[in-house]
Amino acid sequence: GQNTVKVTIEPSQQGPVINRNIFGHFAEHLGFGIYGGIWVGPDSDIPNTRGIRNDVVEALKEIKVPNVRWPGGCFADRYHWREGIGTPEERRKRINVSWGGAVEPNTFGSHEFFDFLAQIGSDAFVSANVGSGSVKDASDWLEYLTATGTALGDERARNGNPEPYEVLFWGIGNETWGCGGPFTPEEYITELKRHLTFTSNYNPNVNTQFVAVGPDSFDEYSFGYTEAIMAAWADRTWTWDLQGLAIHNYTRGGWPAEIPATGFNELQYAEVLEEALGMDQYIANNRAIMDKYDPDTEVSILVSEWGSWLAPTEGTEPGFLIQQNSQRDAVIAALNFNIFTRHAERVHGANLAQMVNVLQSVIHTENEKMVLTPTYHVFRMYVPFQDATRLAINFDPGVYKVGDISLPKVDAIAAKGKDGQIYVAITNIDPNNRATFDLSLDGYSIRNVKGETLYANAIDAVNTFDNPNNVKPKEIKAQASRNKVSVTVQPQSVTVLSITTR
Ligand code: AHR
Repeated sequence: GQNTVKVTIEPSQQGPVINRNIFGHFAEHLGFGIYGGIWVGPDSDIPNTRGIRNDVVEALKEIKVPNVRWPGGCFADRYHWREGIGTPEERRKRINVSWGGAVEPNTFGSHEFFDFLAQIGSDAFVSANVGSGSVKDASDWLEYLTATGTALGDERARNGNPEPYEVLFWGIGNETWGCGGPFTPEEYITELKRHLTFTSNYNPNVNTQFVAVGPDSFDEYSFGYTEAIMAAWADRTWTWDLQGLAIHNYTRGGWPAEIPATGFNELQYAEVLEEALGMDQYIANNRAIMDKYDPDTEVSILVSEWGSWLAPTEGTEPGFLIQQNSQRDAVIAALNFNIFTRHAERVHGANLAQMVNVLQSVIHTENEKMVLTPTYHVFRMYVPFQDATRLAINFDPGVYKVGDISLPKVDAIAAKGKDGQIYVAITNIDPNNRATFDLSLDGYSIRNVKGETLYANAIDAVNTFDNPNNVKPKEIKAQASRNKVSVTVQPQSVTVLSITTR
């Protein structure tokens, strides 16, 4: 079958900038997320630069990763930064209590993280330890990273980096209502104020944004955190301020994760997408609370953990959160990007959980092998939306029904790229029908249109080490005349059009 969708894009109605940090990533010391996936050590046979995998760096450069959140997650509130600096002998081995009881060698620490960022061309989102660290530990760490000419800055220089690092985001704890605490909102706010008052960035080249923990995703205090933190912020004293609130919202059906990552049926496809689309309301609820206290949007929402959380791959350690990544994940990624874009007034950042080998990753590795997941390709296709200006777009998405579930058949966003091109991202959620999009761009004359589409012939199609190009973007033809573009996309597909106007 085939659906027809009439779309009008109004280039004269420009919205906010789609902050490139919306396309950020999260890399935690968890399973093979760092060790094996990013870090193999300088003595490895796997090609590397100062211990960091070259193949992974090359792949990440292509998707222009704007920022990476590190070292956790739950791990961050057990992380002691001093154990991860200095000579190999000074690195302290520990048990990673949060994740599978693995031995944490601390060979990947602050210097290795910033080396990795420099290699991929990305900014830092460092998550400080509130749960088991002191305010002094956190403030010393930020001074160590960013000061020049102080005892800690000199120590950093002796450890190989005389230039101060740039820390774009500094998170005050992680999920302090859960693994990073647990603290009630009031208890957390006491910690938060102390951290914000006594922790400073000393690198004049960057305005570090300080980020508080946001709502409890397990709902224990519902949006209590958001409400209490924003109320405290509105009453703040001159000693502290806040630039971001972290929201975590996964696409998952409970713990332990039981939703199959492959081999699922159409109903399970729709159930998971319904949950993914819940991101919109989740953000809207938090936005509404923030709007009351902060009508001028001085505090951003950073969706610092999002992604599918599915049943682990059989035979793997459940605590390592290894899961397969299918075409359904590609659709989840596109729908999330579209939701973040529609909330771009307030949402100024987001981080996929997680970058490599953990949850909805963009890359899987196994020893020397590497494969790009369907989710990777969506990140690549959306690169032109980084720092683009959102354009108004109108269409009737229709209704796709399966069982008791009703979803929109399609979704789309439009933006004017920094290069002046108009970009339209189209998702066909419906797995049974193609969709013809008839776009009309008011007031424009179109010279040329190009497109790429990510389509797989099964909703659960995956890329494997043996078949790495099973799901891969292909060129798609679109017709253009005067101010109109027409394109027909496949079921369960993600497409990005690039339109050149006169
Ligand atoms: O991404 C995995 C875990 O999920 C993170 O460590 C934690 O913050 C969240 O609960």
